Amino acid sequence: MNKNILVATDGSETASQAVDFASEIAAKFGSALTIGHVLHRSSDIDELAHMAEAEHLIKHAAREAPMTYEAPPATIGTLFTDMHSGVETARLITLIGDELLARAERRAREIGVENIAQRAVNGKPADAILDLAEEIGADMIVLGHRGLGRVRTLVQGSVSQKVNQHAACTVVSVR
Ligand SMILES: Nc1ncnc2c1ncn2[C@@H]1O[C@H](COP(=O)(O)OP(=O)(O)OP(=O)(O)O)[C@@H](O)[C@H]1O
Ligand SMILES: [Mg+2]
Repeated sequence: MNKNILVATDGSETASQAVDFASEIAAKFGSALTIGHVLHRSSDIDELAHMAEAEHLIKHAAREAPMTYEAPPATIGTLFTDMHSGVETARLITLIGDELLARAERRAREIGVENIAQRAVNGKPADAILDLAEEIGADMIVLGHRGLGRVRTLVQGSVSQKVNQHAACTVVSVR
């Protein structure tokens, strides 16, 4: 059975389902689970607003952000426009990534997975996921069929499609 499972999350509802699915398999078979996230770019702001836990993430990021807020900003967009430099923006993106990974790990633990690693990586999402899978020697990649993208004319998200096409191991795309 699978010994080494990689699940990829962009913070979307479907990716959360993928985390649950991968965790259930890992818990059942005692597999190691790596939770991977390819850090978003500031150009993804519109998509970030659609994250499953956007509201919670805004509060968390506002607490940790390099500026002080009296009340959390209303949207992730506000949070980004408040950043005054590329360094601050990069820090915000890292904070969001860390929080996404931490939430996914908590969920995996709840489901009963013991051996869990978190990896935040940079790059184009599909390539970065494929590289990470190779690096850790994953024998299964689990991802959502769709993600944060808003282009609903596509039947399957482009990241999901590309990973499925190019991976050397089994790919499960959760719907
Ligand atoms: N930045 C990312 N980091 C980690 N996993 C990701 C990332 N982006 C996508 N994924 C994974 O791929 C799955 C499918 O997302 P995908 O991006 O292919 O769909 P989409 O966002 O609906 O479409 P598109 O991005 O092509 O507009 C997600 O559920 C998630 O598991
Ligand atoms: Mg996407």
